Amino acid sequence: MWTILTIISLLQVLIVQSLDNGLARTPPMGWLSWERFRCNIDCKNDPDNCISENLYMKMADLMVSEGFKDAGYQFVNIDDCWMAKERDSKGRLQADPDRFPHGIKALADYIHSKGLKLGIYEDFGTETCGGYPGSEYYMQSDANSFAEWDVDMLKFDGCNSDPKDMDTGYPVMSQFLNLTGHKMVFSCEWPLYQVVTKQKPNYAAIRNACNLWRNYGDVQDGWDSIVSIIDFYGKDEGNFSGFAGPGGWNDPDMLVVGDFGLSYNQQKTQMALWSLWSAPLFMSTDLRTIDNASKALLQHPGLIAINQDPLGAQAVRLYQISSLGVWLKPLAKTGSYAIGIVNRDDQGMPRTAKLQLKQLGLPGPSYNISDVFENKPLGVYTSNDMFSVSIDPTSIFVGLAIPSS
Ligand SMILES: *[C@@H]1O[C@H](CO)[C@@H](O)[C@H](O)[C@H]1NC(C)=O
Ligand SMILES: *[C@@H]1O[C@H](CO)[C@@H](O)[C@H](O)[C@H]1NC(C)=O
Ligand SMILES: *[C@@H]1O[C@H](CO)[C@@H](O)[C@H](O)[C@H]1NC(C)=O
Ligand SMILES: *[C@@H]1O[C@H](CO)[C@@H](O)[C@H](O)[C@H]1NC(C)=O
Repeated sequence: MWTILTIISLLQVLIVQSLDNGLARTPPMGWLSWERFRCNIDCKNDPDNCISENLYMKMADLMVSEGFKDAGYQFVNIDDCWMAKERDSKGRLQADPDRFPHGIKALADYIHSKGLKLGIYEDFGTETCGGYPGSEYYMQSDANSFAEWDVDMLKFDGCNSDPKDMDTGYPVMSQFLNLTGHKMVFSCEWPLYQVVTKQKPNYAAIRNACNLWRNYGDVQDGWDSIVSIIDFYGKDEGNFSGFAGPGGWNDPDMLVVGDFGLSYNQQKTQMALWSLWSAPLFMSTDLRTIDNASKALLQHPGLIAINQDPLGAQAVRLYQISSLGVWLKPLAKTGSYAIGIVNRDDQGMPRTAKLQLKQLGLPGPSYNISDVFENKPLGVYTSNDMFSVSIDPTSIFVGLAIPSS
């Protein structure tokens, strides 16, 4: 079992430098097209759902009118398939002229006029995953284009490249972004491609060059995908959790809350764990059709406060007892914690977690515990007291433990 001391010693890893651009001091929040809208470029037959300036403008409008901006979501991010298939005569990237007729700069201006920020996508290799021009041999030129277009964030994928080159290549791109003088959040996929090819990511170097970094496969719209990500974050190989903190974050990929594949309880589990992990919160859902319950979940003030806690610690899994997993995240308020208890079982009835407070990793002497989803106090417990809670299949309990004097 992890002791509080091991958790504190992991937090000290934060002495490791972060990328010095002053950005992403708390996990970035926004909307990203990939999981929900993929590489749909068929604007002729599917004009409302294809990757085009209209889609991003519409989502920006809804982020403002439907309360997402007020809840903290800030970025509207383009993913793959926005480009023309060829660079221009000077070797510069260009947006697809039919789907982005006004160009990326005009789109950035529109997004900024809404008080939001624009993110864009490129790839470290010769081509993007979708087969569009990659940045290899063009990194400085591409960094300059993004700066000229007033882009606020770059997601830099790793298809069609050698993951061994990433240890030198990603820091070079980070440097080129810096040299533009235009501040851009830098989102990397460097550790992901190394984990996949059985290399050991150098998280200290990654944190030094990137504001966030994907380290596991793409999220899909289903519970199996969420469970595999939970396992990866639970195993925490290489103790990557210790590298999360202001300026740099582990990225378990997008939120699929509001899509087709997760039950309401499963959506709660994703939103709550991503919040406990101090993960970037990027929704990938259709804000035109999202139902009220999913919307309320994405805007849940208690969960977002846990996600945006200024200490920026990432919850670690203390243990897994059969289907129940216990997660603990230290908070900035002295001696306080957010607790997550996940019931990953998808069979039958709710399960009761019954644990002494000290088994939850809380050293005591006593805490005022509250239920974050119900927003209700559960009482004061000493560290020897038994804490008991019933959790539905594939659902989660989230609690706040504040020292009581
Ligand atoms: C570039 O890096 C320096 C420090 O290395 C930092 O002070 C500066 O803010 C960075 N600029 C941008 C645009 O990221
Ligand atoms: C990760 O943390 C565990 C528990 O403190 C420790 O035993 C292990 O050596 C650490 N591994 C690495 C790679 O730092
Ligand atoms: C969703 O919420 C809106 C406004 O809060 C309300 O007008 C609408 O009836 C709700 N829709 C459903 C299906 O509950
Ligand atoms: C515990 O917290 C609740 C709010 O969650 C508050 O109303 C209550 O007064 C607190 N109780 C104690 C003993 O601190």
